[in-house]
Amino acid sequence: MPLVTSKRMFEAAQSGHYAIGAFNANNMEIIQGIISAAERESSPVILQVSEKSREYTNPVYLIKLVEAAVATSDVPVCLHLDDGPDYETCVACIDSGYTSVMIDGSRLPFEENIALTKKVVDYAHDNGVVVEGGLGDLHGDAESDVPLALTDPNHAVDFVAATGVDSLAVAIGTCYGPYKFKSEPTLAFERLQDMSNQLPGFPLVLHGASSVPKEFVDLNNQYGADINRAQGVPEDMLREAARLGIAKINIETDLNLVMTACIRQFFIEHPDAFDPQKYLGPGRRAIRSMVIHKMRHVLGCSHGGLG
Ligand code: 13P
Repeated sequence: MPLVTSKRMFEAAQSGHYAIGAFNANNMEIIQGIISAAERESSPVILQVSEKSREYTNPVYLIKLVEAAVATSDVPVCLHLDDGPDYETCVACIDSGYTSVMIDGSRLPFEENIALTKKVVDYAHDNGVVVEGGLGDLHGDAESDVPLALTDPNHAVDFVAATGVDSLAVAIGTCYGPYKFKSEPTLAFERLQDMSNQLPGFPLVLHGASSVPKEFVDLNNQYGADINRAQGVPEDMLREAARLGIAKINIETDLNLVMTACIRQFFIEHPDAFDPQKYLGPGRRAIRSMVIHKMRHVLGCSHGGLG
């Protein structure tokens, strides 16, 4: 099946009150693990790539890996640029076959964010590609004493109207990486509800949505890592966010944690091993299991959107 945009995925997710998983990928094993999980769950899926990962993998290798993945699979797959840093990168991705891009103008003044996002929307829509915008402090820093700037619901409404974006990443208290909260996890659900009420049926996006499962932090530490005070978004909060209008949930840290734990364990248990297939294979299976778990028990997208 050829790559698709996220439009129909989001429509089905919004009416079914579940979310589509957007999983970050930067190598063959991660892509294969994600796609194999989506097939197992008969679920649509978004493969997303940041600019850093695009450069790491090489933009041509990356797109060819994804082409191979969709050629050998029958679930709907959307290829999305995560955190697009500028107009030029968005255009390069659109021209090379991505079906969705994010332009992240969230650090710019409001009017500049609108102008940049609108420019990307115009180019993308002329080419049949959808666009995610961003508003508020999406990246965050849980270690900082400066509170996160959450998305203003009135700004969100004006931003969507002024830019014509297809989805919007909103800040409701998450941040990237394994250290998301200094104390009890909380998300601004009332604010999210307000935005959903003001933008009915419009797909909202949650970045920084890994749960950082203790089981996998502990497994990393048991086999030599030193990861302390890690804390992610509890799974029941993600389910609630999906119920309140979050249609796309971004997950990267959990995939990295589980794959690395698995490889660490393998090396300690097999000190004589040196064939990459022997440890990347289990790493790929670990990614698959994690994505199946997310689709089935957190996102609710298993068997979704395929009708
Ligand atoms: P996590 O670090 O919580 O996995 O979030 C990743 C993300 O939002 C990428 O856009």
